[in-house]
Amino acid sequence: MKLKKLVQQVMEEVITLRRHLHQNPEVSGEEIETSRRIQQQLEAAEIPFKTGFAKTGVLGIIQGGKPGGTVALRADIDALPIQEENDHGFKSIVPGKMHACGHDAHTSMLVGVGKVLQQMKSEIEGTVLLVFQPAEEDAPVGGSQQMMDDGVFEEFKPDAIFGQHVWPDLPAGQVGVLPNEVMGASDRFAIRVKGSGGHASMPHQANDAIIVANHLISQLQTIVSRNTDPLDSAVLTIGKIEGGYRYNVIADQVLMEGTVRTFKSAVKEMVKERIAHIISGVEKSFGASIELEYLDGYPATVNTPEWAAQVKSSAQKVLGREATPAVSPSLGGEDFSRFLLQYPGAFYWLGTSVESTEKQYPLHDPRFKLNEEALSKGVELMTQLALDTLDKLSQKEEAC
Ligand code: NI
Repeated sequence: MKLKKLVQQVMEEVITLRRHLHQNPEVSGEEIETSRRIQQQLEAAEIPFKTGFAKTGVLGIIQGGKPGGTVALRADIDALPIQEENDHGFKSIVPGKMHACGHDAHTSMLVGVGKVLQQMKSEIEGTVLLVFQPAEEDAPVGGSQQMMDDGVFEEFKPDAIFGQHVWPDLPAGQVGVLPNEVMGASDRFAIRVKGSGGHASMPHQANDAIIVANHLISQLQTIVSRNTDPLDSAVLTIGKIEGGYRYNVIADQVLMEGTVRTFKSAVKEMVKERIAHIISGVEKSFGASIELEYLDGYPATVNTPEWAAQVKSSAQKVLGREATPAVSPSLGGEDFSRFLLQYPGAFYWLGTSVESTEKQYPLHDPRFKLNEEALSKGVELMTQLALDTLDKLSQKEEAC
């Protein structure tokens, strides 16, 4: 009860901050004012912080009055290069930029969590890290790896790390949590086939790049249908193909671009390897030259089952027994994945669907909106989760 009350006391500030950030979005790598605003808020709440991680990243540190473990809570802070098409009172005032992925809400909720925990500081067993991460939308580079490279966890190493994301497919008050894979790995590739051109009537004097590309596409499709375990997930899409000049000229070059989506890193590596093998086989059999450019995107976001279970039980504690419906993973990419490669933890979805509208616009849509009623639930859940996690870590320590 005490927690609910403390949360209610900070909510007005959380909503004001969210609306301010929404009106003044800054895209990946340019979050200067956003970072400054976060620092001002932490300073006002007397929460110590450090800066200089991935340029604009901020680390707030709440050291509890009692010894214990370390839990990290992460919010991404950047906006997208999208022109907002909503007409509410706090619409983006920056042309061509918009918080269309809810990172304004993530940031303000984490500030709210920090304010609540700071007031409970003397009772806290251990340390809570508030991780404000820039450049989440800048795949495949991102900001999480850079923050870690810049030593964000040098002094305090998280025993567990958590991140939450607004989710328009779930109503406010519901939380999507999965024990293992949550979000997919998203890679990108380009293939350039080089043959030699000639007159359409004299194919024997040319090496037709379109025929080579045709065989290549067919063979690449067997990676998912024949090499991937049917119980695993993989997608290989060639979304663009370009080549040739006119009806009576044999094409000398074809360019193809595509994407690979997977959940398991072993599956991703297999797909990548098979692409290279098939290319070298087709190259040999047709005597063409084929170049592959493969860009590794964010890895899959894979939760630690133990901490995912903790999210579920904290969510049910705060929001009720029905608060965690069954959900399926998403093949969208997420930079939080890199934190999870280094530290145990979990990433979960906070329901934010808007009740008063016929259509829910998805994340990254110029009309994306979120239900602000959900923000107090997000603050309360994340706070409870931090406390429950520290509690669990203390129990583990005692058991040792
Ligand atoms: Ni996002």
